[in-house]
Amino acid sequence: MTSTTSDPVDVTTSSLYLDGFPHERFTAMRETPGLTWHPYGDSGFWAVTRHADVKEASKRPTDFSSGIGHTNLWDLEPDALEARRSILDTDAPDHTRLRRLVSKAFTPKAIRVWEDVTRQITCELLDDWMEKGGGDWVAEVAAPLPIRVILTILGVPVEDADYLVEISNYLVEGTSDKPSLPADAYGNSTELRLLPFQSPASHALYEYGEQLGAKRLADPQEDMVTMLVQLEDDGDRLSHNEYRNFFHALVFAGNETTRTAITHGAMAFADNPDQWQRILDDPAMVEPGVEELLRWATPVLHMRRTAAADTELAGTPIAAGDKVVMWYMSANRDEAVFDDPFRFDAGRDPNPHLAFGGGGPHFCLGAFLARMEVTVLVEEMRKRNMVLETRSPAVHAPSNFVHGVLSAEMGVSRA
Ligand code: HEM
Repeated sequence: MTSTTSDPVDVTTSSLYLDGFPHERFTAMRETPGLTWHPYGDSGFWAVTRHADVKEASKRPTDFSSGIGHTNLWDLEPDALEARRSILDTDAPDHTRLRRLVSKAFTPKAIRVWEDVTRQITCELLDDWMEKGGGDWVAEVAAPLPIRVILTILGVPVEDADYLVEISNYLVEGTSDKPSLPADAYGNSTELRLLPFQSPASHALYEYGEQLGAKRLADPQEDMVTMLVQLEDDGDRLSHNEYRNFFHALVFAGNETTRTAITHGAMAFADNPDQWQRILDDPAMVEPGVEELLRWATPVLHMRRTAAADTELAGTPIAAGDKVVMWYMSANRDEAVFDDPFRFDAGRDPNPHLAFGGGGPHFCLGAFLARMEVTVLVEEMRKRNMVLETRSPAVHAPSNFVHGVLSAEMGVSRA
C-alpha cells in the first residue's frame, strides 16, 4: 500500500447506516483529488467515489481483479474463498466461460417469457395491500415480489416457496452484523466460514438447489434450473460447485437487490408527489422514472476489487494487493455527471447511473430482469392511480454493503 491521502472518517461502521447512507462523507471524498485511503481492519482500502473512476476500475479487470481476495471488504482464507467462490469472485478466463454459459438464461428474450407471471404476482400483492389500506411496504410488497418472481423463474414448486423465502430472509439478515441462527441450523455441519454470509441458511440453500437440479436433470421442465443443469457449450457444463454457487447467487441477488430498489422507489414517490404525478400523467414517463428510481435506490452500495500488480487510478499510485472499493452510491450522486444529484427527477435524461455496476465483465447479469420487475410494478401502480404516503420513518438496515430498508409503513389513496 502506498498511502498519499488519509481520511479519518470511518464509512465502514455498519451502525452509521442506520441513519441512511452517509452522503456528506462521500461528497467530501469526491471533492478530494485522487483516491482516498480508508483504514479498515489491519490495513485499509482505496475508496473510489467518482463516477468516471468507478467506470474505469470496472473496465480494467486485469488490473483490478475480482478473483484475488474477495469482492466484499473483508478477506477470506483461501479454502473459504474456493468453497464460496461465485461468478462475482472470478476473473477471465474462468469468468468468461462461466458468464457465457449462464448468460443464455438471462437474455431479454429468455426473461420476457416471465413478464406475465411477474405481472400476476405484482397485481395480487398490490391489490391485497390496497384493500388493507396500506401497511409495511417492505414486508407486504417489496420483499415478497422479487422472491416470488425468482422462485417461479427457477422452477421452485409452490409448496416449497415458504421454506425458500425463510432461508433467503436469513441470508439477507446475514449482510448485517448480527448472527441469527445456531451453526447447526438446517442440519448444517459445514464450518460457517466456508459458507456464503457465514450462514447455515447457505447450507440449506445449497442442498435445496442440488436436489432440485437432480430432479430437473431426470425430468426436465420449462424453468431456469432445467436450463442451468442442461447448459452445454461445446461439451462444457457447469461444475457441481459452480451450479450450487450460482443457484445461491440467484436466490440472493434476485431477492435482496430488487426488494431494496422497490422500497426506495416507493419512498421517493411518497416524498416527491410532484414527480409521481408526472408518471401518473404520462405513460412515457415510466421508463425514465424507473431509471431514476434505480439511481436513487442504488441497492448495492459497493463492490471491491484487488490490485493484481502495481498500477494507478485517478493519478493515485496503487500497490499490488491493495484493496480498491468502488462506491456506486457515491458515483450516482456525482455532481460532475448528474445535475442536482440529490433531487429525485423522474424525467432525468440522460441518466447514466451505475446501480448495476460500472460496466465491464461483471455488469449485473440480472439487470434486464430487475428492470422488467420494477417496470411492471410502476405500470401497475399507475393503472391503480395509487398515491403513497409515508406514515412513519423507514427503518434502515445496519449494512455498509446493501442499501437495505427493514420496514417502511405507508398509507395509500387513489389519485
Ligand atoms: C435492482 C436490482 C439489482 C441491482 C441494483 C444489482 C446490482 C448488481 C451489481 C452492482 C453487480 C456487480 C457489478 C460489478 O461488479 O461490476 C451485480 C452483479 C450480478 N447480479 Fe445484480 N443487481 C440487481 C438484480 C439482480 C437480479 C434480479 C439478478 C438475478 C436473478 C442479479 C444477478 C447478478 C449476478 C449473477 C451478478 C454477477 C455477474 C458477474 O459477476 O458476472 N442481479 N448486480
